[in-house]
Amino acid sequence: MRALAMLLLVGAAAGALGIPPHEDAARVARFVAHSCDWGALATLSAQDLPMRGQPFANVFSVSDGPRRSTGSGVPYMYLTALDVSVRDLQVNANASLTVSLAQTSYCKNKGYDPQSPLCAHVIFSGIVEKVPNGTEADFAKTALFSRHPEMASWPRDHNWYFAKLNITSVWVLDYFGGIKTVTPEDYFHATP
Ligand SMILES: *[C@@H]1O[C@H](CO)[C@@H](O)[C@H](O)[C@H]1NC(C)=O
Ligand SMILES: *[C@@H]1O[C@H](CO)[C@@H](O)[C@H](O)[C@H]1NC(C)=O
Ligand SMILES: *[C@@H]1O[C@H](CO)[C@@H](O)[C@H](O)[C@H]1NC(C)=O
Repeated sequence: MRALAMLLLVGAAAGALGIPPHEDAARVARFVAHSCDWGALATLSAQDLPMRGQPFANVFSVSDGPRRSTGSGVPYMYLTALDVSVRDLQVNANASLTVSLAQTSYCKNKGYDPQSPLCAHVIFSGIVEKVPNGTEADFAKTALFSRHPEMASWPRDHNWYFAKLNITSVWVLDYFGGIKTVTPEDYFHATP
């Protein structure tokens, strides 16, 4: 029963992988953001020297909305101040988040190397902010817990909270000819 449900989910995910045309970079960005369940978040290290002030990329589970939705475009995260990267964010909340279709079956199926621009990837930069209790936090919880069910049982004493990357810049690599930039306005207005 569980295996069947998993198969159906995998099938739905693969069927949903109809990437928008590469000319439409804002839609591609929304598509990649919605397709990915995790990303690499780069912070400026607040650790002791010699790391302090240096870039530090770490893996975080993300979700912009439940899989069977169009998604909000906002990368939500579930964070604890015990995390080394979250300690960086407490000093400087500027961060960069990278997500790639290499994290889905798309690039492998097409035979695209993760570094190939055809294996679409998106780099966001912005500020990581706590999501205050209320409607948006409720949405963040549904977005994250639906894709990462294990989060519901993460240790309570770690004081997890919902956060998001407030996006200030979007870069898209989805074709040859160099990186493209998309304004946050175009990104949020696009239909994935
Ligand atoms: C983001 O970086 C800028 C430039 O270094 C800095 O002035 C600002 O305080 C940072 N913002 C936050 C929220 O940490
Ligand atoms: C926000 O919600 C969390 C979890 O429900 C709760 O522990 C916390 O006290 C709330 N914070 C505020 C300021 O209401
Ligand atoms: C990002 O921050 C700005 C300025 O604080 C705010 O107006 C905007 O609503 C935020 N965007 C998102 C997606 O939360």
